[in-house]
Amino acid sequence: MSRIKDPSLAPLGRKRIEWAGMRMPVLRGIGEDYSRERPLKGIRIAACLHVTTETANLMITLVRMGAKVRLCASNPLSTQDDVAASLVEDYGVEVFAVRGESEEEYYAHIDRCLEFNPQITMDDGGDLTVVAHRKGYWRGIWGGTEETTTGVKRLREMEREGVLRYPVIAVNDSKTKYLFDNRYGTGQSTIDGILRATNILLAGRVVVVAGYGWVGRGIAMRAKGMGARVIITEIDPIKALEALHDGYDVMPMLRAIERADVVITATGEPDVVRAEHMRAAKDGVLMANAGHFNVEINVRDLEGLATSKREIRPNVSEYVLPDGRRIYLLCEGRLVNLCAAEGHPAEVMDLSFSNQALAVIYIKENHRRLKPAVYTLPDAIDEDVAERKLQSMGVEIDEPSEAQLRRRWTEGT
Ligand code: ADE
Repeated sequence: MSRIKDPSLAPLGRKRIEWAGMRMPVLRGIGEDYSRERPLKGIRIAACLHVTTETANLMITLVRMGAKVRLCASNPLSTQDDVAASLVEDYGVEVFAVRGESEEEYYAHIDRCLEFNPQITMDDGGDLTVVAHRKGYWRGIWGGTEETTTGVKRLREMEREGVLRYPVIAVNDSKTKYLFDNRYGTGQSTIDGILRATNILLAGRVVVVAGYGWVGRGIAMRAKGMGARVIITEIDPIKALEALHDGYDVMPMLRAIERADVVITATGEPDVVRAEHMRAAKDGVLMANAGHFNVEINVRDLEGLATSKREIRPNVSEYVLPDGRRIYLLCEGRLVNLCAAEGHPAEVMDLSFSNQALAVIYIKENHRRLKPAVYTLPDAIDEDVAERKLQSMGVEIDEPSEAQLRRRWTEGT
């Protein structure tokens, strides 16, 4: 039995799922290619992903390939309740997700997915995989996939410590994932979330982006494109140097925050914005997080400093400090793109989730020879996804010449 907010939301969810599906031609093509063969027939998959229209299309593709699927949310605030309803009512997927669920419910829903005794786990952030290990479900699991940078980091740590019990494919590390989803997807959807929540004009504002990985780069690029004056903060000297060469100002957070109208965290690290920064912030500053976990802006520090708090708009909390300065926190410091907007657009999730679908088939075909380690998908799969996407966009590229091919062979590439 699923646990969702309201089954009567299904008709709305169904139309939205269809809308996203029209923009996911690569995933659709993969589903069509495998729909007759049904390579996942009878295989149980437990998925812990943001419950969005794009995730719904991935779940539908897996079901078309023969899988039995249970889905829970990878963040308590990212579930689209109409999508959850449609998956249950229209597509026979078991879903355990309600937007706004408590921490306790969040973990209870992960348990429900694991009680299914899956052969394959599909995760976004690592919580499902960690619980599968802690509670002994790993014994029946052939392998798993991981969607995001933070999750891959956790898994590599488990591998290093020798506690990883089954192979996991780091989908995040495919080029057709991180170069597009992390950069263009988060770049657009983070700005989208901030604008939907606040309706501010970005032009002329000072936007501080903490972290210059692929996500930070995407956000900085889009904020600059809308006329913001962008400052980057970093702890990595190479990334800081890159940001400088890309034309951004670079400085420590303590100095940057004095100028900031908007601060966006995208580091994967805790306490990037903490009490000392909040004390130095300008009146009216907006703070938003684009990283996986709600640890980058220290909300406890903010609660401790503030003399009052109110919700001034949906997804915007106003905190007043003793001297009257106001700080606006978006989405309680959780992922702003999935909480205040709809996550990355379908066009880019088409790439990420095509990799996910192909990773599941890869696990099914190869799990006997894989060790409990973190793997990336073979380059041939990455290239196949890119070629399919180009084809769907009607873009042709050159074939290598005879001489170029010969050189590749002799150089062994
Ligand atoms: N992560 C970021 N955007 C997403 C989306 N639209 N669906 C699922 N996961 C996401």
